[in-house]
Amino acid sequence: MRLDLRTYLLAWVLVPLCLLAAVNALVGYRSARETANLVADHTLLASARVIAEAARDEDGTLQVTVPPAALEMFDTGEGDFVYYRVIDAAGRLIAGAADLPLPPDGPEDIDSYEARYRDRTMRFYALDHILAGSGPPAPLTVVVGSSLAGRDVLVRRLWLAGFGQGLALIAAAGLFMVFGLKRGLAPLIRLRDEVRARPAGSLELFSPEAVQSEIRPLVEAINIRIERVRAQLAAQHRFVANAAHQLRTPLAILGLQATAAARRAGRADQGEALKAVQVSVGEMSRLAEQLLLLSRAEPGARLERSDRVGLGALARRVLDGFALLALERGIDLGLDEREGRVEVVGDGTMLGEMLGNLVDNALRYCPTGSTVTVGVYMRDGEALLAVGDDGPGLPAGEENRVFERFYRVPGTEASGSGLGLAIVKEVAEAAGGTVSARRPPGGGLIVEARFPAAGEAQ
Ligand SMILES: Nc1ncnc2c1ncn2[C@@H]1O[C@H](COP(=O)(O)OP(=O)(O)OP(=O)(O)O)[C@@H](O)[C@H]1O
Ligand SMILES: [Mg+2]
Repeated sequence: MRLDLRTYLLAWVLVPLCLLAAVNALVGYRSARETANLVADHTLLASARVIAEAARDEDGTLQVTVPPAALEMFDTGEGDFVYYRVIDAAGRLIAGAADLPLPPDGPEDIDSYEARYRDRTMRFYALDHILAGSGPPAPLTVVVGSSLAGRDVLVRRLWLAGFGQGLALIAAAGLFMVFGLKRGLAPLIRLRDEVRARPAGSLELFSPEAVQSEIRPLVEAINIRIERVRAQLAAQHRFVANAAHQLRTPLAILGLQATAAARRAGRADQGEALKAVQVSVGEMSRLAEQLLLLSRAEPGARLERSDRVGLGALARRVLDGFALLALERGIDLGLDEREGRVEVVGDGTMLGEMLGNLVDNALRYCPTGSTVTVGVYMRDGEALLAVGDDGPGLPAGEENRVFERFYRVPGTEASGSGLGLAIVKEVAEAAGGTVSARRPPGGGLIVEARFPAAGEAQ
């Protein structure tokens, strides 16, 4: 499950804050207790001092008349019980309760301590005092103890104050967080709404300035995609317009030819007119086939295939298909395959169509008696498929233009749609290769396709 960004950020800030608040509450309780104990000890000490000051040596006997102030200082309204005990150096009771607990024995001299007394936990303070008067100095110990209700109330008050502050801090942080997130995420939400609100066909770019710098690369990436789609769409529009244009002319001719043939019904020259219709239909179906092939060769039109294609076998198969036509046209069609296996990775069917178009061109544009050679080679680590002929070749400067869609060299007599070399280029590029045409010094034309050679067979 993926939390939305706002919940995620809030959780990551508030959960740790709450944990910290819990730790703070524990630590706060301990320190509140320590502070309250300190206050209680001060009161016990003050009370013990007042009692000690009241001690008198009356003819060798120690006497204590406890002043009311010594006990009144414990009256905090919580109804605490207070007891005292005064003993001399020998442990004899001088005043107070005889069973009041003394400090526990230990290595350290402990003054204040907690102990059970009369079913209550109480806090005690033991003060050692030396009574100096007319006689010899008399050491005595005053123990004062108080129950803990007053102290516990103080602990609670101190702790609750700290805890309340912590809670208020978290609440404030949470509020600021929610507010900050709302403001911070606003541009992203605006962008989302803008994307949603766009009409289906809209290809307008989004403004990267409207969002924070972290989101800007995303908007820019979206814009790059939109621009690509725009370019693709424009190319497709051009292609459809071109195709319609290319179909219109031969269709018009075909219409005229059909009308003429109908008019010659029953006449001897009707056969001639029908032959012309036949030729036009043939050319148009060639155009339709080439259009279909080109649309299949375009990127994304077919499921991508990565067969290991042996170029030698592929060339032999294609040449077999053209053998009869070459014979008819009196052209010597041959294969130059001196090297071992030359393999490329790609779509075998489309590579066959590509080579077919190159051979078709050579047979179509070269006169009787020409030689056409298909070569399969390895060059500089690349696989090379070349179709060379000794025909009329291309006029200078046309080597690149012939790869454009629907382009035909002006003055070309043989029929054609101008799509063959565009198909060759698409197929070569789909297989990761490149294609080029060059005019060899002896005349004619060589069209070469270079591909990255397939690695060693697994
Ligand atoms: N071997 C060649 N020798 C001379 N000219 C060529 C040769 N191959 C192609 N051309 C020229 O390049 C142009 C483009 O060739 P391309 O194969 O793209 O189209 P096409 O042959 O006219 O039509 P299509 O192949 O679609 O039926 C041709 O019209 C022709 O003028
Ligand atoms: Mg062609």
